[in-house]
Amino acid sequence: MSASPDDAQFMQEAIRLGLLHLGQTSTNPSVGCVVVRDGTIVGRGTTAVGGRPHAEPQALAEAGELARGATAYVTLEPCSHHGKTPPCADALIASGVARVVISVTDPDERVSGRGIAMLRDAGIEVETGLLEEEGRHSLAAYLTRQTKNRPYVILKLAVSQDGMIGRKGEGQIAITGPAARAEVQQLRAETDAILVGIGTATADDPELTVRIPGLEGRSPVRIVLDPLLDLPLNSKLVRTAREVPVIAVAREEVSDPEMDEGAALPSVLPDISPSRGEIDSWQASSQTNKLGTSGPPQPISPPEGEMPGRAEGGITPADAQDDTTTNLSDIESRHQALEAAGVEVLYCHPYHPEQLLPALASRGISSLLVEGGARTARLFLDAGYVDRILLYQGPGTIGDGGIETPIRKTDIPSDFKHVGTRIVGADSLDEYEREV
Ligand SMILES: NC(=O)c1ccc[n+]([C@@H]2O[C@H](COP(=O)([O-])OP(=O)(O)OC[C@H]3O[C@@H](n4cnc5c(N)ncnc54)[C@H](OP(=O)(O)O)[C@@H]3O)[C@@H](O)[C@H]2O)c1
Repeated sequence: MSASPDDAQFMQEAIRLGLLHLGQTSTNPSVGCVVVRDGTIVGRGTTAVGGRPHAEPQALAEAGELARGATAYVTLEPCSHHGKTPPCADALIASGVARVVISVTDPDERVSGRGIAMLRDAGIEVETGLLEEEGRHSLAAYLTRQTKNRPYVILKLAVSQDGMIGRKGEGQIAITGPAARAEVQQLRAETDAILVGIGTATADDPELTVRIPGLEGRSPVRIVLDPLLDLPLNSKLVRTAREVPVIAVAREEVSDPEMDEGAALPSVLPDISPSRGEIDSWQASSQTNKLGTSGPPQPISPPEGEMPGRAEGGITPADAQDDTTTNLSDIESRHQALEAAGVEVLYCHPYHPEQLLPALASRGISSLLVEGGARTARLFLDAGYVDRILLYQGPGTIGDGGIETPIRKTDIPSDFKHVGTRIVGADSLDEYEREV
């Protein structure tokens, strides 16, 4: 293609715009678009929160008459289909743009290439593949759900100097400092769902919400792998389930006959529109909120900071004894109690990610942040479903009774690329990625 340095600069801006609404566009990808006339940006658009309107009509509306003869830069191939919104390819044609530059072609076979063909048929010059790697990165969640029928999975772990992620029997420990924790909060805000094992849910009593001022409404759906429905009713997760959705993933074997008939586990993609994979999803209807160290290692004790574990009076086995949940004799009663508290119970074998991940994708979940613990992280790593690994390393040590990290910098699978190391406050972050 005949892209110029200016083209790259404008596509960079479109990619930046697309990133603005990550995790907020429901099942639609967060696309960015700029319209450029005589070297000046005259219109900008990002897929709106909720997924509509798409980026292109917004950028064209801002450009108005200046769009005539202009170039539009868009991160994903413009849609060609009448879905919930008219085709963006039609909007581009009607605007009179002379040239469209696209970073990534849409892999959805019902769309792929058709948007480009419509534009070319209308006499518009079209170029594709500009900054494709960056474009694919910005659309990783959408592309993974479209091509692999599962969410893009990010594994995040906080590891101490001595290679531990916690201490047995102590619940949550502040391994990293406020800067790293703020980054993780931001990541949560950009992700559709967050997942922990029942070990972490009971030991740490985490809230798993976004608590950055102004972004509180962007908490992801919270998912617990909970085969026997042991999630305590007085846990923070259950107590907040009406504000931010919680899904307990239980073993299918414990489901009742009605559930076995498939009532709880969606098996088909509900109402997917061929236009950028739009789903009239469960997520849209039920998700109210969206969806190098220096100095010698310091021992980590006692727990400190904002991490909501026992140090904050989080749940303990003793607390759990007071809770009616633990006195309920059977799983079905716990199921009813959890549902009455606003938790959704999903019957899908929790320790079979090959079943669980497509079930989550079918609900419109395109990105999943796995926050542990050790067993859960190992489960996703061993199954080969982790796309990105974020290893935060704190300056302290945990020592005796520590829970070993399930993965170290030295044993990252060979198909991951080391993206880089960054200093984050007193901690460091190593980031690894596989190709989308
Ligand atoms: N630093 C961090 O980034 C971080 C993040 C999250 C959690 N943590 C810490 O990790 C600790 C909890 O780790 P964990 O490994 O016990 O908890 P987990 O991964 O949250 O949950 C593990 C639980 O699931 C059960 N399980 C059985 N089969 C499994 C399978 N195939 N895959 C996954 N789980 C399976 C385990 O049962 P059995 O063991 O009984 O077989 C165990 O009860 C806590 O202390 C927490 O503070 C640290």
